[in-house]
Amino acid sequence: MTSSPFRLDGKTVLISGAGGGIGRVLVETFAASGARVIGADRTTGDLDGLPLAGHVLFDQADAGATRAAVTAGMSRFGVPDALIANAGFTRAEHLDHLDDAVWASEMAINLNGAYALADPVVAAMAGRGWGSLVFVSSVNALAHFGNPAYAAAKAGLIAYAKAIAVERGARGVRANVIAPGSVRTPAWDHRLAADPGLLDKVLPHYPLGRLVDPREVANAALFLASDAASGITGVTLAVDAGLTAGNLRFVNDVLKAN
Ligand SMILES: NC(=O)c1ccc[n+]([C@@H]2O[C@H](COP(=O)([O-])OP(=O)(O)OC[C@H]3O[C@@H](n4cnc5c(N)ncnc54)[C@H](O)[C@@H]3O)[C@@H](O)[C@H]2O)c1
Repeated sequence: MTSSPFRLDGKTVLISGAGGGIGRVLVETFAASGARVIGADRTTGDLDGLPLAGHVLFDQADAGATRAAVTAGMSRFGVPDALIANAGFTRAEHLDHLDDAVWASEMAINLNGAYALADPVVAAMAGRGWGSLVFVSSVNALAHFGNPAYAAAKAGLIAYAKAIAVERGARGVRANVIAPGSVRTPAWDHRLAADPGLLDKVLPHYPLGRLVDPREVANAALFLASDAASGITGVTLAVDAGLTAGNLRFVNDVLKAN
C-alpha cells in the first residue's frame, strides 16, 4: 500500500499554543493524520482533553524558559519531524495603544519567543538531516489591519522563516508560514465582549463572505508540514478567505455605489 504524502503516520509533531482556538484544531488534525502530537502551552490545564502523546510547558514571553523547555522536551520525546509555531497574543489594537513596554511585550511573545522555540528545533533537525517548520503568522504581517506591534512581530516571522529556508535547506529543513485572516477563537473574546455585534462589521471585508474556519488553517499547516509540500520552502500562504486579494469594500462601497 502506498501511503499518502498528505499523511504524517508515525511522525512526531510539536505544536505550540496547542490549547488555543486554532491550536486545538491543529492537534486534532495532525493526530487524525497519524502523527504523534506533543502539545506546548503555558499550563497543563490549557491542554485538557487533547489527544496528546506528551506536552511541553513554557511562557513564550520568556525566551530563556522557552528554549530550556523545548530542549528538555526534545530530550524526552525526540526531535520532532515538524514544528507548528502557533502561539501568539495581542491586545494593542492600534498605534495609540503602544508604548515601549507594550511594544516589547508583544515582540517578546510573538517574535523573540518564537525564535527561542524554533532555534533549538532547527538546529536539531539540521543535525539529523530533515524537518519541517510552519509558523502561524497573520494577514497583519502582509498589510496593516491594526495591532502594529503584533504585526511587526508576525512580519518578522516571515523573514525568519525565509532565513531558515535559505540557510538550512541544504540540511533538509523546510520552513513556511501561514497568514490567517480573522478566525473566531478565544483571541476575539475581549473584542466581542466590548462590542457583541462586531463580527457583522468584519464580514463585509471578506470576499468569501465569512471568517476563516480554524480547520482551514490546520489543513494548510498539515499540507505545508507534510511530504506533499516537499518542494515548498520559504513561502507564506494566506488562509484569509480572500482578504488580501484586494479591497472588497472599495469595490462595493465606491464602485458599485452608483
Ligand atoms: N484568531 C485570529 O483571528 C487569528 C488571525 C491571524 C493569526 N492568528 C494567530 O493564530 C495563532 C493562534 O491564535 P488563536 O486565534 O488560536 O488564539 P488563542 O488565544 O485561542 O490561542 C493562543 C494560544 O497561544 C498560547 N499563548 C499565548 N501566549 C502565550 C505565551 N506567552 N506563552 C505560551 N503560550 C502562549 C495560549 O495559551 C493559547 O493556547 C496565534 O499566533 C495568532 O496570532 C489568529
